[in-house]
Amino acid sequence: MKKIAVLTSGGDAPGMNAVIRAITLTALKNDVEVLGVIRGYNGLMKGDFVDLTADAVADIITKGGTMLYSARSPEFKTEEGMAKAIATCKENGIEGIAVIGGDGSFRGARDLSVRGIPTVGVTGTIDNDIGCCDYTVGYDTALNTIVSVVDRIRDTTQSHDRCFVIEAMGRGAGYLALNSGIACGATAILIPEVDFDVEKDVIDKIKFEQSRGRRHFIIMTSEAPEVKAKIGSVEELAKKINEETGVESRATVLGHLQRGGSPTLRDRVIGTRMGNYAAHLLIEGKGNRVVAIKDDNLFDLDIIDALNTKKQLDADLYRVAVETAV
Ligand code: ADP
Ligand code: F6P
Repeated sequence: MKKIAVLTSGGDAPGMNAVIRAITLTALKNDVEVLGVIRGYNGLMKGDFVDLTADAVADIITKGGTMLYSARSPEFKTEEGMAKAIATCKENGIEGIAVIGGDGSFRGARDLSVRGIPTVGVTGTIDNDIGCCDYTVGYDTALNTIVSVVDRIRDTTQSHDRCFVIEAMGRGAGYLALNSGIACGATAILIPEVDFDVEKDVIDKIKFEQSRGRRHFIIMTSEAPEVKAKIGSVEELAKKINEETGVESRATVLGHLQRGGSPTLRDRVIGTRMGNYAAHLLIEGKGNRVVAIKDDNLFDLDIIDALNTKKQLDADLYRVAVETAV
């Protein structure tokens, strides 16, 4: 390939810029031209491109968000939208595309590949919910952000002998809540992958710890609908805890602060490795692949296989969380 494009799609994630930078610099070193697509699949349909030069990607590795902007694009999923995107690729001589995003974005990448534009997916989502992959770019930064803000919440929780019910992001996945819950010493961690009972796993657990003298508690929850179906909102759970245990309780939804911030070392390094790998796939003319990582080794697999791989939560990690919770 002599000309490729890069886009970021879906929810942004810290480290996306490291991927963009690595793809660009690797491609340029191999005499391949790179276009940046502005605002994901919307920009691809509209032909909204910028030239990605070494100067254009200078100093972005330290920055959160994505220099290319991101979008969710319902129109791209239609036949007309897809046809527009293919037409702009042909008009602009784009021979291959790297899509940085989550599984929704990879479905778009598959559709482009089967229509003759070889496209490679690179993970970029704080949720860590891609089945074929141990790790997604953005996850480590989001976890560290959660831990740093929950540490602050813990200070005030402790000062007032309170309970805080905290909601972490993660769409349908509990990885953010589970790992940050362990790191913050949560009394209970409520995630969609594990069946739980509010009376037994939250109320009785708090009462038991109270009987041993503990007076402040953090309950970490995932925003997943399966969790909300059992607890109602975090405010409702806080009210119930207040009523049934007597501990004054508050709720905090962490929200989008989890998605921002300068990427951690891990997100910069894995983002750079994945971007470099993706650029080489495209340079070799390969498409319809996802760049994945397992046991710190990069590999690539067919997008369909990647989308069909279901992620299994580490049951032993959850056991550790339960056994060490107070
Ligand atoms: P993520 O990539 O983070 O999972 P979304 O699910 O919002 O985010 O998907 C991002 C974009 O990818 C969507 O707005 C849409 O343009 C495209 N996309 C999602 N699902 C599909 C699909 N089934 N077919 C084609 N494109 C899709
Ligand atoms: O997929 C990343 C994510 O941050 C999820 O954790 C969250 O559910 C969703 O995106 C929020 O999307 P939006 O920014 O559109 O509200």
